Amino acid sequence: MAKICLCLGEETLDANLRTLEKYRRYIDLAELRVDKLLPDERFLIRRFPALAGMPVILTVRRKRDGGVFEGEESARLVLIANAISYAEADRRMNFAYIDIEEDIEVPSIEEAARAFGTRIIRSIHAESTPEDPSAIIAKAKSLLHFGDEIIKLAAPAHNLNDVAAMFNAASELRGIDKLLISMGSAGMCTRILACKFGSLWTFASAKDAPVSPGQLDPETLCKLYRFRDININTDVYGILGFPLKVTASPPFFNPIFSREKMNAVYLPFPSEDAAAFFRLADALNIKGVSVTVPHKQSVMPYLAGMSANVKNLGACNTMIRTEAGWDGHNTDILGFSDSILNFMKRKSFRGIKATVIGAGGAARAVVYQIWRGGGKAFVVNRSRSRAEELADRYGFMAGGLDENSTRTIKKFSRLIINTTSVGMGIGCKDDPLFMYKFQGTEVVMDLIYVPEQTALLARAAAAGCPVLNGYDMLIRQAKYQYKYFFGAEYPQP
Ligand code: ATR
Repeated sequence: MAKICLCLGEETLDANLRTLEKYRRYIDLAELRVDKLLPDERFLIRRFPALAGMPVILTVRRKRDGGVFEGEESARLVLIANAISYAEADRRMNFAYIDIEEDIEVPSIEEAARAFGTRIIRSIHAESTPEDPSAIIAKAKSLLHFGDEIIKLAAPAHNLNDVAAMFNAASELRGIDKLLISMGSAGMCTRILACKFGSLWTFASAKDAPVSPGQLDPETLCKLYRFRDININTDVYGILGFPLKVTASPPFFNPIFSREKMNAVYLPFPSEDAAAFFRLADALNIKGVSVTVPHKQSVMPYLAGMSANVKNLGACNTMIRTEAGWDGHNTDILGFSDSILNFMKRKSFRGIKATVIGAGGAARAVVYQIWRGGGKAFVVNRSRSRAEELADRYGFMAGGLDENSTRTIKKFSRLIINTTSVGMGIGCKDDPLFMYKFQGTEVVMDLIYVPEQTALLARAAAAGCPVLNGYDMLIRQAKYQYKYFFGAEYPQP
Protein backbone atom coordinates (compact mmCIF):
# COMPACT_ATOMS: atom_id res chain seq x y z
CA MET A 1 0.00 0.00 0.00
CA ALA A 2 1.31 3.46 -0.83
CA LYS A 3 1.72 6.19 1.77
CA ILE A 4 0.70 9.85 1.71
CA CYS A 5 3.32 12.59 1.88
CA LEU A 6 2.14 16.13 2.55
CA CYS A 7 4.15 18.79 0.68
CA LEU A 8 4.68 21.85 2.82
CA GLY A 9 5.18 24.98 0.78
CA GLU A 10 4.49 27.80 3.27
CA GLU A 11 6.92 30.67 3.94
CA THR A 12 7.48 29.89 7.62
CA LEU A 13 8.03 26.75 9.68
CA ASP A 14 5.12 27.71 11.95
CA ALA A 15 2.73 27.97 9.04
CA ASN A 16 3.97 24.61 7.75
CA LEU A 17 3.43 23.03 11.16
CA ARG A 18 -0.14 24.36 11.22
CA THR A 19 -0.81 22.80 7.80
CA LEU A 20 0.76 19.55 8.95
CA GLU A 21 -1.43 19.52 12.08
CA LYS A 22 -4.54 20.03 9.95
CA TYR A 23 -3.80 16.93 7.91
CA ARG A 24 -1.83 14.85 10.44
CA ARG A 25 -4.42 12.09 10.69
CA TYR A 26 -4.40 11.53 6.93
CA ILE A 27 -0.65 11.47 6.25
CA ASP A 28 2.41 9.30 6.87
CA LEU A 29 5.23 11.73 6.12
CA ALA A 30 5.85 15.32 5.05
CA GLU A 31 8.11 17.12 2.61
CA LEU A 32 9.57 20.43 3.73
CA ARG A 33 10.08 22.62 0.69
CA VAL A 34 12.94 24.70 2.03
CA ASP A 35 13.14 26.71 -1.20
CA LYS A 36 9.68 28.13 -0.41
CA LEU A 37 10.68 29.29 3.07
CA LEU A 38 11.66 32.91 3.80
CA PRO A 39 15.49 33.19 3.86
CA ASP A 40 15.64 33.69 7.65
CA GLU A 41 13.50 30.64 8.28
CA ARG A 42 15.96 28.49 6.37
CA PHE A 43 18.45 28.76 9.27
CA LEU A 44 15.98 26.97 11.53
CA ILE A 45 15.12 23.93 9.47
CA ARG A 46 17.30 21.56 11.48
CA ARG A 47 14.58 21.62 14.20
CA PHE A 48 11.75 20.73 11.86
CA PRO A 49 11.73 16.89 11.99
CA ALA A 50 11.47 16.94 15.79
CA LEU A 51 8.65 19.48 15.64
CA ALA A 52 6.84 17.54 12.92
CA GLY A 53 6.89 14.27 14.84
CA MET A 54 6.86 12.21 11.67
CA PRO A 55 9.35 11.36 8.89
CA VAL A 56 10.28 14.47 6.90
CA ILE A 57 11.85 14.88 3.46
CA LEU A 58 14.24 17.78 3.04
CA THR A 59 13.93 19.38 -0.39
CA VAL A 60 15.57 22.57 -1.64
CA ARG A 61 14.29 22.71 -5.18
CA ARG A 62 16.14 24.76 -7.81
CA LYS A 63 14.23 27.05 -10.15
CA ARG A 64 15.13 24.95 -13.18
CA ASP A 65 13.48 21.91 -11.55
CA GLY A 66 10.26 23.75 -10.76
CA GLY A 67 11.32 25.16 -7.37
CA VAL A 68 11.96 28.72 -6.26
CA PHE A 69 15.51 28.58 -4.82
CA GLU A 70 17.40 31.44 -6.40
CA GLY A 71 20.71 31.55 -4.49
CA GLU A 72 24.07 30.16 -5.56
CA GLU A 73 24.33 26.42 -5.92
CA SER A 74 27.07 26.36 -3.27
CA ALA A 75 24.71 28.06 -0.80
CA ARG A 76 22.05 25.46 -1.53
CA LEU A 77 24.45 22.59 -0.93
CA VAL A 78 25.64 24.09 2.36
CA LEU A 79 22.01 24.43 3.43
CA ILE A 80 21.41 20.75 2.68
CA ALA A 81 24.68 19.66 4.31
CA ASN A 82 23.94 21.60 7.52
CA ALA A 83 20.43 20.27 7.73
CA ILE A 84 21.46 16.64 7.67
CA SER A 85 24.67 16.95 9.70
CA TYR A 86 24.91 17.31 13.50
CA ALA A 87 22.65 14.30 13.64
CA GLU A 88 20.94 13.29 16.84
CA ALA A 89 21.20 9.76 18.20
CA ASP A 90 17.41 9.61 18.11
CA ARG A 91 16.77 9.29 14.38
CA ARG A 92 13.30 10.78 14.68
CA MET A 93 15.03 14.14 15.27
CA ASN A 94 16.77 13.94 11.89
CA PHE A 95 15.45 14.32 8.37
CA ALA A 96 14.34 10.88 7.24
CA TYR A 97 14.99 11.67 3.56
CA ILE A 98 16.79 14.21 1.42
CA ASP A 99 15.81 14.87 -2.14
CA ILE A 100 18.79 15.54 -4.38
CA GLU A 101 18.79 15.92 -8.10
CA GLU A 102 20.27 13.46 -10.55
CA ASP A 103 23.15 15.74 -11.53
CA ILE A 104 24.29 16.38 -7.97
CA GLU A 105 27.37 14.47 -6.97
CA VAL A 106 28.58 15.77 -3.66
CA PRO A 107 30.10 12.77 -1.91
CA SER A 108 30.25 14.57 1.47
CA ILE A 109 26.46 15.09 1.48
CA GLU A 110 25.76 11.56 0.29
CA GLU A 111 28.13 10.06 2.85
CA ALA A 112 26.71 12.16 5.66
CA ALA A 113 23.21 11.09 4.69
CA ARG A 114 24.17 7.43 4.69
CA ALA A 115 26.06 7.76 7.99
CA PHE A 116 23.13 9.44 9.75
CA GLY A 117 20.40 7.21 8.36
CA THR A 118 18.89 9.81 6.02
CA ARG A 119 17.72 8.09 2.86
CA ILE A 120 18.47 9.71 -0.47
CA ILE A 121 15.70 10.38 -2.99
CA ARG A 122 17.38 10.84 -6.34
CA SER A 123 15.07 13.00 -8.40
CA ILE A 124 14.64 14.12 -11.93
CA HIS A 125 12.11 16.72 -13.07
CA ALA A 126 11.68 16.27 -16.78
CA GLU A 127 10.20 18.92 -19.07
CA SER A 128 8.03 16.36 -20.80
CA THR A 129 7.24 12.66 -20.67
CA PRO A 130 9.20 10.59 -23.20
CA GLU A 131 6.74 8.92 -25.57
CA ASP A 132 8.55 5.62 -25.42
CA PRO A 133 8.30 3.85 -22.03
CA SER A 134 11.77 2.36 -22.58
CA ALA A 135 13.17 5.90 -22.49
CA ILE A 136 11.51 6.41 -19.10
CA ILE A 137 12.84 3.09 -17.87
CA ALA A 138 16.39 3.92 -19.01
CA LYS A 139 16.15 7.36 -17.37
CA ALA A 140 14.87 5.90 -14.12
CA LYS A 141 17.53 3.20 -14.04
CA SER A 142 20.24 5.79 -14.70
CA LEU A 143 19.23 7.39 -11.40
CA LEU A 144 20.07 4.31 -9.41
CA HIS A 145 23.51 5.36 -8.20
CA PHE A 146 23.36 2.99 -5.29
CA GLY A 147 20.84 0.32 -4.46
CA ASP A 148 19.72 2.13 -1.31
CA GLU A 149 18.35 5.23 -3.02
CA ILE A 150 14.75 5.94 -3.95
CA ILE A 151 14.29 7.18 -7.49
CA LYS A 152 11.83 9.95 -8.21
CA LEU A 153 10.72 10.80 -11.71
CA ALA A 154 8.27 13.68 -12.14
CA ALA A 155 7.21 14.79 -15.61
CA PRO A 156 4.29 16.88 -16.85
CA ALA A 157 1.53 14.87 -18.50
CA HIS A 158 0.18 16.73 -21.49
CA ASN A 159 -2.37 14.00 -22.11
CA LEU A 160 -3.27 10.46 -21.10
CA ASN A 161 -0.74 9.01 -23.58
CA ASP A 162 1.94 10.39 -21.26
CA VAL A 163 0.27 8.73 -18.27
CA ALA A 164 -0.01 5.42 -20.14
CA ALA A 165 3.72 5.61 -20.98
CA MET A 166 4.46 6.24 -17.29
CA PHE A 167 2.34 3.26 -16.25
CA ASN A 168 3.99 0.94 -18.76
CA ALA A 169 7.38 2.09 -17.52
CA ALA A 170 6.26 1.49 -13.92
CA SER A 171 5.43 -2.12 -14.75
CA GLU A 172 9.03 -2.60 -15.96
CA LEU A 173 10.47 -1.03 -12.84
CA ARG A 174 8.92 -3.43 -10.35
CA GLY A 175 11.00 -4.10 -7.28
CA ILE A 176 12.74 -0.72 -7.40
CA ASP A 177 11.91 1.79 -4.67
CA LYS A 178 10.48 4.66 -6.62
CA LEU A 179 8.13 7.61 -6.98
CA LEU A 180 6.61 8.13 -10.43
CA ILE A 181 4.49 11.20 -10.96
CA SER A 182 2.72 12.60 -14.00
CA MET A 183 2.10 16.25 -13.15
CA GLY A 184 -0.98 18.27 -14.10
CA SER A 185 -4.66 17.42 -14.28
CA ALA A 186 -4.12 14.59 -16.79
CA GLY A 187 -1.80 12.90 -14.29
CA MET A 188 -4.27 12.82 -11.41
CA CYS A 189 -4.50 9.04 -11.56
CA THR A 190 -0.76 8.67 -10.90
CA ARG A 191 -1.46 10.37 -7.58
CA ILE A 192 -4.62 8.45 -6.63
CA LEU A 193 -3.36 5.10 -7.95
CA ALA A 194 0.20 5.58 -6.63
CA CYS A 195 0.09 2.00 -5.42
CA LYS A 196 -0.65 0.68 -8.92
CA PHE A 197 2.22 2.77 -10.31
CA GLY A 198 4.47 1.11 -7.74
CA SER A 199 5.22 4.42 -6.00
CA LEU A 200 6.19 4.28 -2.33
CA TRP A 201 3.98 7.26 -1.64
CA THR A 202 1.91 9.98 -3.26
CA PHE A 203 2.57 13.69 -2.82
CA ALA A 204 -0.38 15.74 -1.58
CA SER A 205 -0.78 19.33 -0.44
CA ALA A 206 -3.22 21.58 1.39
CA LYS A 207 -6.64 21.95 -0.23
CA ASP A 208 -6.72 24.44 -3.11
CA ALA A 209 -3.00 25.19 -2.66
CA PRO A 210 -1.15 22.56 -4.70
CA VAL A 211 2.61 22.82 -4.22
CA SER A 212 3.01 20.99 -7.51
CA PRO A 213 0.45 20.89 -10.38
CA GLY A 214 -2.24 18.23 -9.98
CA GLN A 215 -1.72 17.47 -6.28
CA LEU A 216 -4.84 16.63 -4.28
CA ASP A 217 -5.29 17.26 -0.58
CA PRO A 218 -4.86 14.29 1.80
CA GLU A 219 -8.46 14.41 3.03
CA THR A 220 -9.86 14.20 -0.53
CA LEU A 221 -7.45 11.36 -1.30
CA CYS A 222 -8.58 9.39 1.75
CA LYS A 223 -12.27 10.25 1.92
CA LEU A 224 -13.31 10.71 -1.70
CA TYR A 225 -10.81 8.45 -3.44
CA ARG A 226 -10.43 5.69 -0.81
CA PHE A 227 -6.63 5.98 -1.01
CA ARG A 228 -6.09 3.74 2.04
CA ASP A 229 -8.15 0.94 0.52
CA ILE A 230 -6.44 0.89 -2.87
CA ASN A 231 -4.10 -2.01 -3.55
CA ILE A 232 -2.72 -3.55 -6.72
CA ASN A 233 -5.86 -5.69 -7.10
CA THR A 234 -8.29 -2.77 -6.85
CA ASP A 235 -10.61 -2.54 -9.87
CA VAL A 236 -10.55 0.86 -11.54
CA TYR A 237 -13.67 2.64 -12.82
CA GLY A 238 -13.94 6.22 -13.96
CA ILE A 239 -15.41 8.99 -16.00
CA LEU A 240 -14.03 10.16 -19.33
CA GLY A 241 -14.69 13.78 -20.30
CA PHE A 242 -13.08 17.13 -20.97
CA PRO A 243 -12.36 19.47 -19.33
CA LEU A 244 -14.23 17.57 -16.59
CA LYS A 245 -13.82 20.44 -14.12
CA VAL A 246 -16.92 19.32 -12.23
CA THR A 247 -18.22 15.81 -11.89
CA ALA A 248 -20.57 14.36 -9.31
CA SER A 249 -19.80 10.78 -10.34
CA PRO A 250 -16.79 10.06 -8.04
CA PRO A 251 -18.76 11.20 -4.95
CA PHE A 252 -21.60 8.97 -6.13
CA PHE A 253 -19.66 5.76 -6.78
CA ASN A 254 -16.83 5.77 -4.22
CA PRO A 255 -19.09 5.87 -1.14
CA ILE A 256 -21.02 2.87 -2.53
CA PHE A 257 -17.75 0.98 -2.96
CA SER A 258 -16.88 1.74 0.67
CA ARG A 259 -20.32 0.89 1.96
CA GLU A 260 -20.46 -2.39 0.06
CA LYS A 261 -16.82 -3.23 0.86
CA MET A 262 -15.95 -3.51 -2.83
CA ASN A 263 -12.30 -3.44 -3.87
CA ALA A 264 -12.89 -0.74 -6.46
CA VAL A 265 -12.23 2.95 -7.00
CA TYR A 266 -13.78 5.52 -9.34
CA LEU A 267 -11.85 8.48 -10.65
CA PRO A 268 -11.98 11.24 -13.25
CA PHE A 269 -10.00 10.85 -16.48
CA PRO A 270 -9.93 14.27 -18.14
CA SER A 271 -8.92 13.77 -21.77
CA GLU A 272 -9.46 15.73 -24.92
CA ASP A 273 -8.35 12.75 -26.95
CA ALA A 274 -10.46 9.58 -26.79
CA ALA A 275 -7.68 7.40 -28.29
CA ALA A 276 -5.29 8.37 -25.47
CA PHE A 277 -7.92 7.44 -22.90
CA PHE A 278 -8.35 3.97 -24.39
CA ARG A 279 -4.59 3.42 -24.32
CA LEU A 280 -4.50 4.22 -20.61
CA ALA A 281 -7.70 2.25 -19.97
CA ASP A 282 -6.01 -0.85 -21.38
CA ALA A 283 -2.84 -0.25 -19.39
CA LEU A 284 -4.79 0.16 -16.13
CA ASN A 285 -7.34 -2.51 -17.06
CA ILE A 286 -10.18 -0.06 -16.35
CA LYS A 287 -13.37 -2.11 -15.94
CA GLY A 288 -16.14 0.38 -16.50
CA VAL A 289 -16.41 3.95 -17.74
CA SER A 290 -18.95 6.74 -17.62
CA VAL A 291 -18.68 8.99 -20.67
CA THR A 292 -19.53 12.67 -20.70
CA VAL A 293 -19.01 15.84 -22.77
CA PRO A 294 -17.54 15.84 -25.44
CA HIS A 295 -17.05 12.08 -25.88
CA LYS A 296 -20.50 10.50 -26.07
CA GLN A 297 -20.12 10.21 -29.83
CA SER A 298 -16.34 10.02 -30.14
CA VAL A 299 -16.13 6.73 -28.17
CA MET A 300 -18.45 4.95 -30.64
CA PRO A 301 -15.67 3.69 -32.98
CA TYR A 302 -13.98 2.01 -29.99
CA LEU A 303 -16.98 -0.13 -29.06
CA ALA A 304 -16.90 -3.84 -29.86
CA GLY A 305 -20.60 -4.14 -29.07
CA MET A 306 -23.45 -1.80 -28.25
CA SER A 307 -27.06 -1.83 -27.12
CA ALA A 308 -29.85 -1.08 -29.59
CA ASN A 309 -30.34 2.29 -27.90
CA VAL A 310 -26.73 3.29 -28.46
CA LYS A 311 -27.00 2.22 -32.07
CA ASN A 312 -30.20 4.21 -32.61
CA LEU A 313 -28.95 7.27 -30.77
CA GLY A 314 -25.37 7.33 -31.91
CA ALA A 315 -24.41 8.29 -28.35
CA CYS A 316 -22.89 6.20 -25.59
CA ASN A 317 -22.42 7.22 -21.95
CA THR A 318 -21.52 3.88 -20.35
CA MET A 319 -18.80 1.41 -21.34
CA ILE A 320 -18.02 -1.95 -19.79
CA ARG A 321 -14.92 -4.01 -20.49
CA THR A 322 -15.81 -7.48 -21.75
CA GLU A 323 -13.66 -10.23 -23.20
CA ALA A 324 -14.63 -9.10 -26.70
CA GLY A 325 -13.81 -5.44 -26.00
CA TRP A 326 -15.83 -2.42 -24.84
CA ASP A 327 -19.58 -2.80 -24.68
CA GLY A 328 -21.52 0.48 -24.97
CA HIS A 329 -24.79 1.46 -23.29
CA ASN A 330 -26.78 4.63 -22.73
CA THR A 331 -28.21 5.34 -19.29
CA ASP A 332 -28.91 9.03 -20.03
CA ILE A 333 -32.14 8.10 -21.77
CA LEU A 334 -33.81 6.44 -18.78
CA GLY A 335 -32.12 8.86 -16.36
CA PHE A 336 -33.66 11.75 -18.27
CA SER A 337 -37.17 10.37 -18.74
CA ASP A 338 -37.44 8.98 -15.18
CA SER A 339 -36.36 12.34 -13.79
CA ILE A 340 -38.58 14.67 -15.81
CA LEU A 341 -41.66 12.42 -15.84
CA ASN A 342 -41.38 12.02 -12.07
CA PHE A 343 -41.09 15.81 -11.75
CA MET A 344 -44.12 16.39 -14.00
CA LYS A 345 -46.03 13.52 -12.32
CA ARG A 346 -46.61 11.89 -15.68
CA LYS A 347 -46.24 8.38 -17.04
CA SER A 348 -45.16 9.30 -20.59
CA PHE A 349 -44.49 12.14 -23.02
CA ARG A 350 -47.69 11.44 -24.92
CA GLY A 351 -49.16 14.72 -26.16
CA ILE A 352 -46.25 16.82 -24.93
CA LYS A 353 -44.72 19.40 -27.27
CA ALA A 354 -41.23 20.19 -26.08
CA THR A 355 -38.36 22.44 -27.12
CA VAL A 356 -34.91 20.85 -26.88
CA ILE A 357 -31.93 23.21 -26.87
CA GLY A 358 -28.82 21.59 -28.35
CA ALA A 359 -28.06 18.81 -30.78
CA GLY A 360 -25.10 17.00 -29.20
CA GLY A 361 -24.93 13.65 -27.44
CA ALA A 362 -27.15 14.66 -24.52
CA ALA A 363 -29.76 16.18 -26.88
CA ARG A 364 -29.89 12.94 -28.84
CA ALA A 365 -30.85 11.02 -25.69
CA VAL A 366 -33.51 13.59 -24.76
CA VAL A 367 -35.08 13.80 -28.24
CA TYR A 368 -35.04 10.00 -28.58
CA GLN A 369 -36.91 9.53 -25.30
CA ILE A 370 -39.50 12.18 -26.12
CA TRP A 371 -40.09 10.46 -29.47
CA ARG A 372 -40.25 6.99 -27.90
CA GLY A 373 -42.68 8.25 -25.28
CA GLY A 374 -45.10 9.65 -27.88
CA GLY A 375 -44.18 13.35 -27.58
CA LYS A 376 -43.05 15.87 -30.18
CA ALA A 377 -39.98 18.11 -30.09
CA PHE A 378 -38.67 21.28 -31.67
CA VAL A 379 -34.86 21.11 -31.73
CA VAL A 380 -32.96 24.41 -31.58
CA ASN A 381 -29.21 24.58 -31.85
CA ARG A 382 -26.44 27.09 -32.46
CA SER A 383 -25.47 25.14 -35.58
CA ARG A 384 -28.83 24.82 -37.24
CA SER A 385 -27.67 22.03 -39.54
CA ARG A 386 -26.97 19.77 -36.55
CA ALA A 387 -30.45 20.52 -35.19
CA GLU A 388 -31.94 19.59 -38.55
CA GLU A 389 -29.99 16.38 -38.73
CA LEU A 390 -31.24 15.31 -35.29
CA ALA A 391 -34.84 16.44 -35.80
CA ASP A 392 -35.08 14.77 -39.21
CA ARG A 393 -34.47 11.34 -37.69
CA TYR A 394 -37.80 11.55 -35.90
CA GLY A 395 -39.75 13.80 -38.25
CA PHE A 396 -39.44 16.75 -35.83
CA MET A 397 -38.88 20.44 -36.57
CA ALA A 398 -35.58 22.27 -36.17
CA GLY A 399 -34.37 25.82 -35.82
CA GLY A 400 -31.41 28.00 -34.96
CA LEU A 401 -30.75 29.41 -31.51
CA ASP A 402 -32.04 32.86 -32.44
CA GLU A 403 -35.06 35.20 -32.65
CA ASN A 404 -36.50 33.35 -35.65
CA SER A 405 -37.23 30.36 -33.43
CA THR A 406 -39.26 32.13 -30.73
CA ARG A 407 -42.67 31.70 -32.36
CA THR A 408 -42.19 27.97 -32.75
CA ILE A 409 -40.73 27.65 -29.25
CA LYS A 410 -44.00 29.18 -27.94
CA LYS A 411 -45.90 26.35 -29.64
CA PHE A 412 -43.50 23.78 -28.16
CA SER A 413 -43.38 25.25 -24.68
CA ARG A 414 -45.05 22.68 -22.41
CA LEU A 415 -41.52 21.52 -21.63
CA ILE A 416 -38.20 23.26 -22.41
CA ILE A 417 -34.93 21.40 -21.91
CA ASN A 418 -31.41 22.75 -22.17
CA THR A 419 -28.91 20.05 -23.10
CA THR A 420 -26.00 22.37 -23.99
CA SER A 421 -23.17 23.41 -21.70
CA VAL A 422 -24.24 27.07 -21.92
CA GLY A 423 -24.65 28.34 -18.35
CA MET A 424 -22.37 25.75 -16.77
CA GLY A 425 -20.02 26.78 -13.97
CA ILE A 426 -20.42 28.82 -10.81
CA GLY A 427 -21.03 32.49 -11.62
CA CYS A 428 -21.82 31.86 -15.29
CA LYS A 429 -24.56 34.21 -16.51
CA ASP A 430 -24.97 32.79 -20.03
CA ASP A 431 -28.54 31.93 -20.99
CA PRO A 432 -28.99 29.84 -24.17
CA LEU A 433 -32.62 30.98 -24.56
CA PHE A 434 -31.94 34.70 -24.04
CA MET A 435 -34.37 35.63 -26.86
CA TYR A 436 -37.38 33.83 -25.37
CA LYS A 437 -39.74 35.35 -22.79
CA PHE A 438 -41.18 32.79 -20.35
CA GLN A 439 -44.93 32.85 -19.75
CA GLY A 440 -44.79 30.97 -16.45
CA THR A 441 -46.54 27.87 -17.77
CA GLU A 442 -43.47 26.09 -19.16
CA VAL A 443 -41.77 23.30 -17.23
CA VAL A 444 -38.05 24.07 -17.67
CA MET A 445 -35.27 21.54 -17.23
CA ASP A 446 -31.55 22.20 -17.49
CA LEU A 447 -29.27 19.17 -17.61
CA ILE A 448 -26.59 21.28 -15.91
CA TYR A 449 -26.36 20.89 -12.12
CA VAL A 450 -23.44 23.23 -11.34
CA PRO A 451 -24.56 25.87 -10.58
CA GLU A 452 -27.71 24.46 -8.99
CA GLN A 453 -29.71 27.12 -10.76
CA THR A 454 -28.39 28.30 -14.12
CA ALA A 455 -29.24 31.74 -15.51
CA LEU A 456 -31.86 30.01 -17.68
CA LEU A 457 -33.52 28.31 -14.69
CA ALA A 458 -33.34 31.46 -12.58
CA ARG A 459 -35.11 33.49 -15.27
CA ALA A 460 -37.73 30.76 -15.78
CA ALA A 461 -38.33 30.41 -12.02
CA ALA A 462 -38.72 34.19 -11.71
CA ALA A 463 -41.47 34.00 -14.35
CA GLY A 464 -43.25 31.34 -12.28
CA CYS A 465 -42.16 28.22 -14.21
CA PRO A 466 -41.53 24.93 -12.39
CA VAL A 467 -37.78 24.25 -12.86
CA LEU A 468 -35.57 21.18 -12.50
CA ASN A 469 -31.79 20.90 -12.78
CA GLY A 470 -29.79 17.90 -13.96
CA TYR A 471 -28.72 16.47 -10.61
CA ASP A 472 -31.65 14.11 -10.19
CA MET A 473 -31.12 12.83 -13.75
CA LEU A 474 -27.41 12.36 -13.06
CA ILE A 475 -28.08 10.22 -10.00
CA ARG A 476 -30.76 8.21 -11.74
CA GLN A 477 -28.54 7.47 -14.76
CA ALA A 478 -25.63 6.61 -12.43
CA LYS A 479 -27.81 4.01 -10.69
CA TYR A 480 -28.46 2.40 -14.06
CA GLN A 481 -24.74 2.62 -14.74
CA TYR A 482 -24.05 0.75 -11.51
CA LYS A 483 -26.27 -2.03 -12.78
CA TYR A 484 -24.27 -2.29 -16.01
CA PHE A 485 -20.92 -2.16 -14.20
CA PHE A 486 -21.73 -4.82 -11.62
CA GLY A 487 -24.67 -6.76 -13.02
CA ALA A 488 -26.67 -6.10 -9.85
CA GLU A 489 -29.26 -3.57 -8.70
CA TYR A 490 -27.91 -0.37 -7.13
CA PRO A 491 -27.72 -1.10 -3.40
CA GLN A 492 -29.87 1.47 -1.59
CA PRO A 493 -28.10 2.84 1.51
P1 ATR B 1 -23.04 16.65 -25.17
O1 ATR B 1 -22.61 15.25 -25.32
O2 ATR B 1 -23.05 17.11 -23.77
O3 ATR B 1 -24.35 16.96 -25.83
P2 ATR B 1 -21.68 17.81 -27.45
O4 ATR B 1 -22.04 16.62 -28.28
O5 ATR B 1 -20.31 18.36 -27.56
O6 ATR B 1 -21.89 17.51 -25.90
O7 ATR B 1 -22.77 18.94 -27.75
C1 ATR B 1 -22.68 20.20 -27.17
C2 ATR B 1 -23.96 20.99 -27.47
O8 ATR B 1 -23.85 22.25 -26.81
C3 ATR B 1 -24.15 21.29 -28.94
O9 ATR B 1 -25.52 21.39 -29.21
C4 ATR B 1 -23.47 22.66 -29.08
O10 ATR B 1 -23.91 23.44 -30.16
P3 ATR B 1 -23.20 23.29 -31.61
O11 ATR B 1 -23.75 22.04 -32.22
O12 ATR B 1 -23.61 24.50 -32.33
O13 ATR B 1 -21.73 23.21 -31.34
C5 ATR B 1 -23.92 23.30 -27.78
N1 ATR B 1 -23.06 24.41 -27.39
C6 ATR B 1 -21.84 24.34 -26.82
N2 ATR B 1 -21.36 25.56 -26.58
C7 ATR B 1 -22.30 26.46 -26.99
C8 ATR B 1 -22.41 27.88 -26.99
N3 ATR B 1 -21.43 28.64 -26.51
N4 ATR B 1 -23.53 28.42 -27.47
C9 ATR B 1 -24.53 27.65 -27.94
N5 ATR B 1 -24.49 26.32 -27.98
C10 ATR B 1 -23.40 25.71 -27.50
